[in-house]
Amino acid sequence: MDTSAFMSTPEPKHRHRQPREKSTRLRGIARLWDGARVHRDVSVVLRGGRVVEIETGDDTDGGEDDCENVDCDGLIAMPGLVDCHTHTTFAGTRVADFVKRLGGTSYTTILEGGGGIHTTVQATRMATTDELAFLTGARLEEMLAHGVTTVEVKSGYGLDLRTERRMLEAARAASGPVEVMPTFLAHVLPRGRDRDEYMRELLDVNLPQLAGLACAADVYCDDGAFTLAETEAILRRASGLGLALHVHAEQVAWTGAAALAARLGALSADHLERIDADGIDAMAAAGTVAVLLPGAMLYLRDTPPPVKALRAACVPMAIATDFNPGSSPVNNLWTAATLACLTMGLTVEEALAGITRNAARALGRPDLGWLGAGSAADIALFPAPVGEPPSVEVLVQHLGGTRAEQVWKAGERVL
Ligand code: NIG
Ligand code: FE
Repeated sequence: MDTSAFMSTPEPKHRHRQPREKSTRLRGIARLWDGARVHRDVSVVLRGGRVVEIETGDDTDGGEDDCENVDCDGLIAMPGLVDCHTHTTFAGTRVADFVKRLGGTSYTTILEGGGGIHTTVQATRMATTDELAFLTGARLEEMLAHGVTTVEVKSGYGLDLRTERRMLEAARAASGPVEVMPTFLAHVLPRGRDRDEYMRELLDVNLPQLAGLACAADVYCDDGAFTLAETEAILRRASGLGLALHVHAEQVAWTGAAALAARLGALSADHLERIDADGIDAMAAAGTVAVLLPGAMLYLRDTPPPVKALRAACVPMAIATDFNPGSSPVNNLWTAATLACLTMGLTVEEALAGITRNAARALGRPDLGWLGAGSAADIALFPAPVGEPPSVEVLVQHLGGTRAEQVWKAGERVL
């Protein structure tokens, strides 16, 4: 992790004349996951939106006289959790799809019949930007209650320029205590539109006009969505406009999108239930993060991605909720972490890294997802479940974790 920028910040020259920036010490933390390992009985000192130091019992000597001490007795501390793949901005309901799928109709059949994502597109187009911002904000609040401080939010339920813009504006407007990283998503082709004409509109009008509202671009490359060649054209255009890249890859059908993502320098390839050996090798060579989405896998009653092969190839693995009204109505990142262990075979350590350090990497944010001198002061503090001794593992063991008792974002208490 590059901490040099923070470490080399010069001390102010006339320190005694300047109001000193307030420091805060979170004291009495029973267990802390720093992104790579567990610490016991520590305090964390914060200043200027950053972590200054993790102190062990011996070095909390009260040296920072003007430090405000905050009692965190017995709590379990995590870097603020990062949900690196969500579709949080949407209107309407997909409960009818859920019932149909339980009756045996497939996700792709519903989509190709004009339901699924298209149902959400209709409802989202009808909602006002204020309504979309309100819905997004209310959903982010639920995420914050479980310690999530950064959420990637995709567009992709508008498909036309006007609604895609309004979705991105709503996502940005909802950014607050929970930081939103908006992504432009080329999700599916609108019903009734000519393919080539829509592609030209995407490349020549929508992407250039919307690039300024997004941090990244994503394409759903699959049956019923974009082809590999279309995906490549969209990603190349987005990259040329300065956007980071993600790809919905190898979910329903194998398409070769994971290898394409790696070749184009995408930050992540997501889903991957059907990735092959070439895709894994390409991702490993490029350092592309594999974002695992156990909510979608469970709701579509799918088989798991090849986690053993991803692990053996040292592909970094992140876990996200994929929160959306259709394939993953799951907005609790702890639930996704537990499901990744139970249904995909991740270890608890991989799950913890998957919702912190590797999720931050999938968003190109080396300041997030870890705790130590120079990291962002994004910290979530949880009580152990009733009657359990404090440990980080127990938060993964209990489906849904526990509700956070305190959350800090950029050094400010937000819960
Ligand atoms: O990541 N697979 C494509 N896109 C979303 C689903 C969105 C939806 O069903 O509304 C996903 O699972
Ligand atoms: Fe998704």
